Amino acid sequence: MKVKIIGIAGSVRKGNTDIMIQESLKAARELKDVETEFIRLIDYKIDGGCVACYKCFKAKNPLDKLCEAYDDDLNKILKKMLTADGFIFGCPVYFGSLTWLMKEFIDRSHPIFAANRGLRNKPAAALTVALGRNGGQGYVIDILHRFAMFHDMLIVGASVVWPAEGGASPWGADGVQGGPQGIARLQFKDITRRVFPLHLVELGDGLYRVMQL
Ligand SMILES: Cc1cc2nc3c(=O)[nH]c(=O)nc-3n(C[C@H](O)[C@H](O)[C@H](O)COP(=O)(O)O)c2cc1C
Repeated sequence: MKVKIIGIAGSVRKGNTDIMIQESLKAARELKDVETEFIRLIDYKIDGGCVACYKCFKAKNPLDKLCEAYDDDLNKILKKMLTADGFIFGCPVYFGSLTWLMKEFIDRSHPIFAANRGLRNKPAAALTVALGRNGGQGYVIDILHRFAMFHDMLIVGASVVWPAEGGASPWGADGVQGGPQGIARLQFKDITRRVFPLHLVELGDGLYRVMQL
């Protein structure tokens, strides 16, 4: 059985976020039976953010049409997400928070949220990058994790790399560019290796067991 991992980048340029996600997806592909797709949101036609029409809440089957306010590429991305098994969400720090693009994507995922939690139990990890070593990475990771939690996804985290070991945070710019000893770079590969071969086996009565491929 193939497991499909989608990496979604919320940067507005081809920069560090792309490198991080692509490295992670590469690590995932090294595992047997994993296929990946890389989605740079900026490459898609996205006409705007959520307009709070709440039609997705009222629709009988929101999955048929997803967001009724727009007929753009974001709906296609959301449909793809429903068929994927796991995700890496990556977004750089902009003024201590998300980029406008990532926020647009998150808010527009409302129809999936409304439609029986279509992303429920899919594993997800978050990556971020910033200019400063303490530039707001923790907060962005928190927001991305919260987004995943809203959708009932399963979060895969990463432990901290101690400065004494020569690395920055696993999501810091040092990590992207190799950094001292490249420790951080290794760590985000590790997130992917641990997280994405996971899938759930239903045991019945609403119970699941996490299986490693
Ligand atoms: C509008 C804007 C706001 C930014 N805000 C922060 C910030 O709050 N903290 C920080 O450390 N870096 C900040 N940066 C730097 C970016 O996080 C950094 O350049 C990062 O590498 C961008 O990701 P990318 O390479 O994937 O485009 C900001 C950059 C821009 C353009």
